[in-house]
Amino acid sequence: MKPVDVSEEVWASLLALRDGGAGDFAHADDPAWSIYEPLARRRGGSFVLAQVGQSLDGRVATVDGDAAPISGPDGFAHLHRLRALSDAVLVGAGCVVADDPRLTVREVSGPSPVRVLIDPSARIPADARCLSPETRTILVRADGCGASTSHETIRLPRGDDGRLCTVALLDALGERGLHHILVEGGAATIRHFLEAGVVDRLHVCIAPIIIGSGAPGLALAPISKLSGALRPQTRVFALGSDTLFDCAFDRS
Ligand SMILES: NC(=O)c1ccc[n+]([C@@H]2O[C@H](COP(=O)([O-])OP(=O)(O)OC[C@H]3O[C@@H](n4cnc5c(N)ncnc54)[C@H](OP(=O)(O)O)[C@@H]3O)[C@@H](O)[C@H]2O)c1
Repeated sequence: MKPVDVSEEVWASLLALRDGGAGDFAHADDPAWSIYEPLARRRGGSFVLAQVGQSLDGRVATVDGDAAPISGPDGFAHLHRLRALSDAVLVGAGCVVADDPRLTVREVSGPSPVRVLIDPSARIPADARCLSPETRTILVRADGCGASTSHETIRLPRGDDGRLCTVALLDALGERGLHHILVEGGAATIRHFLEAGVVDRLHVCIAPIIIGSGAPGLALAPISKLSGALRPQTRVFALGSDTLFDCAFDRS
């Protein structure tokens, strides 16, 4: 397992890469560079990274919904680095209602991404912290659902399964110049992206606590045979307080 120390020099190079710079190849062997470079480098297409911060037993909250803090300080800083390198951070309505996150960058230097909230039925309360005016926020709603709002809104039709099409959503974000997307949860939202086959990387950040019950970090459709399990190419990094599993999927 590779230990990770994100030096100020490497972080500054990653932020420059995010802003369209060429990138400093002197860092190519640095573990921190290898974790963040795929998200930071703009290659002209979309890039989707899903992240979950969970316990050793794969939970993100207790049965009563207590969800903070699961990640340790290094896992939390990792999440904020992912936000800073993304064009947009995307969450589902369940996450907003449960946790009332701000979705801004506060633990590291760098810009806060555009916030994208999938709220098909308009159940996110108007006083949610992620609707604050400090950062651009886009609501994603189902056609015909919810009163009009002053917030920028993408409207999509529901499919036969009731879902909004993830590929159509990525296209709509791309039309707005948002190509590198951090899918921050929760489990249902990550599931929709994984099932659509549009996830490039999945970061599973594990904190050394055992909850024993409660909401899972990932919840995919049941399979009966292990041959049906996802088997991404995976690297493991010691972040300090947390352990990162960096999983790469082939989107082709
Ligand atoms: N530790 C972590 O990394 C982390 C991060 C985020 C959240 N969480 C935890 O995750 C839990 C919430 O997760 P969750 O799975 O219940 O909810 P969620 O994924 O945050 O939100 C699910 C809801 O978002 C909407 N949605 C998302 N994608 C959609 C699509 N493609 N089409 C239609 N609707 C879509 C639906 O809203 P409607 O129901 O309104 O139709 C859906 O029910 C909380 O316990 C929270 O603490 C943990």
